[in-house]
Amino acid sequence: LAASRAPRTLAGLKFLVSAGPTFEDIDPVRFIGNRSSGRMGFAVAEAAAREGAQVTLVAGPVALATPAGVERIDVRSAREMRDAVLAQAPRHDVFVSAAAVGDFRPSAVAPQKLKKSGDGGLELALVQNPDILAEVAALPQRPFVVGFAAETENVEAYARAKLERKRLDMIAANRVGADCGFERDDNALLLLWPDGREELAQADKRELARALVARIAERRGAKDA
Ligand code: CTP
Ligand code: CA
Repeated sequence: LAASRAPRTLAGLKFLVSAGPTFEDIDPVRFIGNRSSGRMGFAVAEAAAREGAQVTLVAGPVALATPAGVERIDVRSAREMRDAVLAQAPRHDVFVSAAAVGDFRPSAVAPQKLKKSGDGGLELALVQNPDILAEVAALPQRPFVVGFAAETENVEAYARAKLERKRLDMIAANRVGADCGFERDDNALLLLWPDGREELAQADKRELARALVARIAERRGAKDA
């Protein structure tokens, strides 16, 4: 009972969270996607809502139920996600970019299903997608901006480079690969901010999300002070 009466630490704050993969269409029946399940981002949205935040969740294609009290906007491609996030960002206090945004999309979507011709292969031309996180961080009236970094090696160095290059307030780094990161219920995170770091040990994604949201609230407070 004591726990359920604890003050809701994020009351009055508006959180915007992106989650899941993006799908980039190749033709009417094929796409380029990735292995993100959306669970980390949905867990962040749920944790923030439970602490009293008003939460908007921009979700790529995932098979997950919307957490209680969360407003959800469904998108498919990186460009759709960008439009939704940029439209929402100015009226939010915090942006957590948990989505695994596809870095590349086909330079053109074929209007009809691509057909094989003989025994040859197929070369797809790809172009780079906009970096949604960097665009939010560059807004004149920006929210507190938290990125994720999915790395298979040199986790801390690569993540700190992303924190600096994209001018983020915080980054949550995790190792991804065959046996960790995507498509799993648990994860471990390394939090970095401009003048500090903290390791959040391997835990259930919902527990990690609660810890992450608590650190965001602290760091945001420290920045305002
Ligand atoms: N991100 C984004 N838009 C993109 C690519 C990434 O908003 N087009 C965000 C992700 O949501 C994540 C952060 O940027 O919060 C880092 O994503 P990651 O894929 O680790 O880094 P990239 O900057 O894309 O670099 P690379 O994949 O080459 O390591
Ligand atoms: Ca990427």
